[in-house]
Parts: sequence; C-alpha cells; structure tokens
Amino acid sequence: MANKLWEKDFAINSEIERFTVGRDREMDIYLARYDVLGSMAHIKMLESIGLLEKAELAELLAELRRIYDLCERGGFVIEDGVEDVHSQVELMLTRRLGDMGKKIHSGRSRNDQVLVDLKLFIRHELKEIAMATGGLFDELLAKSDEYKNVLMPGYTHLQVAMPSSFGLWFGAHAESLADDMLFLQAAYRMANRNPLGSAAGYGSSFPLNRTMTTELLGFDSMDYNVVYAQMGRGKTERNVAFAMASIAGTLSKLAYDACMFNSQNFGFVRLPRECTTGSSIMPHKKNPDVFELIRAKSNKLQALPQQITLIMNNLPTGYFRDLQIIKETFLPAFGELKDCLRMAAYIISRIEVNEGVLDDKMYDPMFSVEEVNRLAAAGMPFRDAYKKVGLDIEAGTFVPDRNIRHTHEGSIGNLMNDSIRAMMAGTMAGFGFDKAEEAERTLLSR
Ligand code: ARG
Repeated sequence: MANKLWEKDFAINSEIERFTVGRDREMDIYLARYDVLGSMAHIKMLESIGLLEKAELAELLAELRRIYDLCERGGFVIEDGVEDVHSQVELMLTRRLGDMGKKIHSGRSRNDQVLVDLKLFIRHELKEIAMATGGLFDELLAKSDEYKNVLMPGYTHLQVAMPSSFGLWFGAHAESLADDMLFLQAAYRMANRNPLGSAAGYGSSFPLNRTMTTELLGFDSMDYNVVYAQMGRGKTERNVAFAMASIAGTLSKLAYDACMFNSQNFGFVRLPRECTTGSSIMPHKKNPDVFELIRAKSNKLQALPQQITLIMNNLPTGYFRDLQIIKETFLPAFGELKDCLRMAAYIISRIEVNEGVLDDKMYDPMFSVEEVNRLAAAGMPFRDAYKKVGLDIEAGTFVPDRNIRHTHEGSIGNLMNDSIRAMMAGTMAGFGFDKAEEAERTLLSR
C-alpha cells in the first residue's frame, strides 16, 4: 500500500526513506494536536468556498475531533512507513471516511501545514514559558522584599567593592526577567500570524479565504505575502529561540551566583538540605547540583538561536528540507526551559539567607566609599577624604559605619519593586493569550 502522500508508481529506496524521514516521526508528535486544529480551520474554509459538502465537513470535523482527543490522551502515534504527522492524520481520516479524507488537502501543502502547526505550538508553549517566568519573578521579588534590609557585599572584579543587599540581588534578577519578557512578547506576536493558504509558498488558484482561517485559529493577523509566510519557517523559530535564550541568560547568571554564594567561602545563602545532593565519598557534602544543572541547561539553550541560524544560513527564498532539522533542537527546548524555570522558582522560594554575612571583618573595607562620602558631605574635599580613608584602612584603624543611607531610586533603601512589578504586569497583559485560547476552544466545540 502506498503510504506516501506523494508516492506514484515507483518504489522508494528504504535507505533514502530512513534518511529523509530522520527523526520526524518523533518530532511531529509535538505538533500533532496543532496539525488537527489547523486542518479543522482549513476544511471549514474549504466548505465555505464550495470545495466540501456540508455533510462531509461535519463527518470530517467529528473524525478530526476524535484524533485531537487521542493526541490529548497521549495515544497518537505515527505508524511505521508513514512519513510525518500530516500524512498520519490524512491516513487516519481516509481509513475511516474513504475518499472524503483525501479531499482535505485541496489548497494547501505540507509546507504551510507544518508552518501553521509550529505557530500554534509556539503560541501554546510561549504562554507556559511566560507563566513559568512569571512564577520565578514573583518568588524573586518576594525574597527581595523580605530581605530588603539585609546587607551583603557587592563585587567588582570579584573583589569586595561596596555595600549591596539581598533586596538588590534578588530584585535584579527579577527585573532582568521583566526585560526578557519583552523579547518573549515580540517573538509571540511575530509568531501569532497565519501562514495557512500560502500552500507550497506561492498561494493557490483556489479562492481560499485566508481571513476566515486567521479568525478561526485566533491569529492576530495573517502573514500577508505568501512568499513571506514561507520565509517565516526558520525565522519564527529563530526569533523565539532568541527570546528563550534571553531568559536562559538570566537563569544562568542567577544559578552561577547561587552556586557561588552557597559555597562555604561565601556563605551568603543556604540551600535547604532537600534541595541539595550528596557525594558518594565525602560524607559532609551538600552540593548545589540543581543550580549547576540549571546553569548548564540554560547555557545550552543560549546556543539555540545560533544553531537555528546556522541550519538556515544562506538558504534562498522558498521551502527546503533543511528546515526540518530545526525541529530537532527547537521542539524539545521548551520543555527544558520550563523545567529550569520551575526548579529555579522552587529553590528560590526555599533559599535561606545568612543575615550575619557582614559580621566578618573581611568585608569592612566595602564601607570605605560611605565614609569618604560622609566626610565630603561634611565639607572635606573629596580627594582629601579619599586619601584619609585609604590611609586609615592601610593602618588598620578604619571603623566602618554600617548604618548606610542609600535613598535614590533603585538603590538599597529604595528598591522600587512595585515599579518592577508594574512593568512585568503591563507586559504580561499585552500578550493576548485569551484570544488564542478562546478561538481554539470554539474550533473544537463545533
Ligand atoms: N517534514 C517536513 C518539514 O518539517 C514537512 C514538509 C515537507 N515538505 C516537503 N516539501 N517535502 O519540513
């Protein structure tokens, strides 16, 4: 039996098939439910322009709904000998409904099918990434508020520099996530456009109603130019990867800090025992493996945009099979980033802070600038004050005044966490997740 959508009258060399299908049977499982949603919208549109009967539409929709439920239950498989998710869905429809199942491919190509699948998948996954990022953001700011009055050393060149605080440290990573969220939203909005109807990349002679499928799938707009719609393959994934890499960059810095500050030589934070792992040889060890793995995984995620860029590098306009390979690094990345974000949020919510860090005299010199500023404010020229404090430190007679007063915006005494919260909330509200979800629900309900 011919299982290839494009198979005609000669046998396909099995080695060629193995090589060209590659890991698609595994990768396309990520896309299955979105492939079904895309087909639902497409056939409704086909009926509206007279390419399907009403009765046929009803039967096809019911069958697609059944396949969607199978995907939800984790029961959807791509059978041996079937190339990809698009072929599998069509095969299932044809098995149950005969020739009617073959009609649904009018006016489309697997090129716009995989594009729409990817965009619907991205939309769903970016919502989850945004939520997980928001979760970590909330934990970081809660800790920042809780420890706003606890000082810690600030470093430049990894040398003790000036007073900082746990309020600043936790809050800085939170504000970084608020900026990352802007990237994520830009990627979301560029992905949230309908490529369906671009077919193989040049449109169709059928009078397709692209506005209709755009509305049915809850996209913000269509990718208007069909050639550009196809150009979106690779570009969309790369944009999303850049946004994910931005979040990963924040995570890896947080993870590095946490590992370092948890070490006995710093002792600024303590990970609760249940969040650490032991050593097979050294009985005393409580290692911060979770943060180390978050660091490595987020560093790996930061390579994702480069990987995608290189796979699609120097491709001219139009579809190429090269683009299939992007799925192998791109699709699994969402699960990894979500996992890292959730683990980081869990540990940050339980991390303990050493409120007595500054009891160690080693940190006394970091108050030097406070003293210089105090003398300068009292009238001594800054250079003289600088010299006096320097000499006192050399002579071992410097006594720090730990009652520091930093009052300007964003400083130890005025963290402006509410402004950071408002910034994040404003960005979150701008995604428009509800519209997409509402459209998908409606599409599935009738
Ligand atoms: N598996 C293919 C991909 O991911 C689907 C599109 C196939 N199109 C084609 N012209 N061979 O790109």
